[in-house]
Amino acid sequence: MSTAPKLLQWVGVPFMCLVVIVVVRTVTFPSYQTRPPPCNATDQDFIPATRDRLDRLAGAVTFRTISYEPGRGTPEELLKFIAFIGDSFPVLHSSPLVTREVVGNFSLLYRVEGSDSSLNPGLLAAHLDVVPVTEEPGWEAEPFSGQQKDGFVYGRGTIDDKHNVMGQLEALEFHLKRGHRPRRTLYLAYGHDEEVSGYYGAQKIGELLEDRGVKVEFVLDEGLTVTKGLVPGVAKKVAMVGVAEKGYLTVKLSVRMKGGHGSMPEKESAIGILSQAVANLERNPQPNLWGSGPERDLTEHLATEMSVLHRVVTSNLWLFTPVMRWVMTQKAGTNALSRTTTAVTRFNAGIKDNVIAPEAVATVNHRVHPKHTIQEVLDHDVKVINDPRVKVEVVESLVPAPVSPSGPESPAYLAIQESIQQIYPDSLVAPSVMIGNTDTRHYWNLTSAIYRFSPNVMGPEDLARFHGVNERISIGDYERTMNFYFHLMLNVDRPLVVRRHEHDGDL
Ligand SMILES: *[C@@H]1O[C@H](CO)[C@@H](O)[C@H](O)[C@H]1NC(C)=O
Ligand SMILES: *[C@@H]1O[C@H](CO)[C@@H](O)[C@H](O)[C@H]1NC(C)=O
Ligand SMILES: *[C@@H]1O[C@H](CO)[C@@H](O)[C@H](O)[C@H]1NC(C)=O
Ligand SMILES: [Zn+2]
Repeated sequence: MSTAPKLLQWVGVPFMCLVVIVVVRTVTFPSYQTRPPPCNATDQDFIPATRDRLDRLAGAVTFRTISYEPGRGTPEELLKFIAFIGDSFPVLHSSPLVTREVVGNFSLLYRVEGSDSSLNPGLLAAHLDVVPVTEEPGWEAEPFSGQQKDGFVYGRGTIDDKHNVMGQLEALEFHLKRGHRPRRTLYLAYGHDEEVSGYYGAQKIGELLEDRGVKVEFVLDEGLTVTKGLVPGVAKKVAMVGVAEKGYLTVKLSVRMKGGHGSMPEKESAIGILSQAVANLERNPQPNLWGSGPERDLTEHLATEMSVLHRVVTSNLWLFTPVMRWVMTQKAGTNALSRTTTAVTRFNAGIKDNVIAPEAVATVNHRVHPKHTIQEVLDHDVKVINDPRVKVEVVESLVPAPVSPSGPESPAYLAIQESIQQIYPDSLVAPSVMIGNTDTRHYWNLTSAIYRFSPNVMGPEDLARFHGVNERISIGDYERTMNFYFHLMLNVDRPLVVRRHEHDGDL
């Protein structure tokens, strides 16, 4: 008697079942993408990037509104920029619907009164300040010139974040000029020190709104962009909407030992012990959390748009999560989405060639995954260092941002998604996590629906322009920025309710 058929029965039947489930799920996995009517340059309400609009963006870039450190910025430049904004948008600034407050001396808070007080206000945010220009050579245009060249506007702030400030104001100006009377109240909040944590700008705005008991329907601030060639298996452009921000934790490690002359060393030194601690941290990374946070949603929102093999995997995360966990942590970029990262950023010890260092100090910078707590990260460090002689101290920390809802169940997210797809009809939209931080940390108490998105396109080669040399925006992208905000203002100017549609057929 042969056991082969029996074995086949035991192994083969479950295996075939598995294959069937995987195939059925792959074929029936719901699409999260939408196809709203695209914005067309021939539309009556299209905002073209005319010379005067481009000149206003260029004008905004000429103000050197640099933030150096918390509390140390460029007051005169900020005041000039604020005056420039006042002069640039006469309709908005004379409209009886609009009030403007200067908060913390240099930040701006606009309120556009809606006619329907049953609708919670919306809040669009951006910031007035920029990072410094370093001595690095290679700028193809003066960094504060706003020069237009080869279809781009060059200069510090063109993608961080004056395009958003000016794009929102252009859209609102255009709206009001057309006689639009909004139903939903809209706030525009422009902090002046975002690049150095927003303690004097956005934080004051957040506190002011909270004191007034304002609850908003959603916040949209700067953030992730429309990306090209970043998601494996996806050929189209992907607009990523930040639904969370990683937190951070900076830890100081120190070891103190008896110093002494280099000629008669003890067995162990402060440097040796600290080196061991640092090596342990690098050898034992923080846990792999891929699949527990918004990085899972990113994958599922794109599943139906992927090439076949990727699609099979991403439609079946119930089965393939372990595979994804391994794959995603192989490269630094995707690893950063998958876990709390550990970067040893400083290591100092030693005073003289022939003297044993009495102290060694290192700094470790963690970026904390949205599903991780600061305490868990710290506990892991202490456990893997496993040496009481290494003192572990917290220098500073920020808890990860609460995860905002995404997908068909969250109407504010959908309004943003549809606005993006009107402007970029050939682009997909998916939620993702921001590694860096924005002013939104100061708005957590105003709403649970906080999104971070900037409507310009960034290819892998453009990432270095951000806070770097040759920061620039294409004229096409700036035009899309203005029209994105225009459409968003229209799309949220109605009750935002969950709409039932085809996504409900999920297996
Ligand atoms: C834009 O509108 C024009 C004329 O109304 C039409 O011919 C064209 O196909 C439209 N383009 C898109 C992308 O819808
Ligand atoms: C704002 O300006 C006033 C008067 O110039 C000054 O006393 C105050 O300290 C400033 N406040 C901030 C937050 O800079
Ligand atoms: C939010 O509210 C809590 C509780 O009132 C307060 O402790 C916290 O500072 C507020 N957070 C922000 C970002 O304003
Ligand atoms: Zn910014």
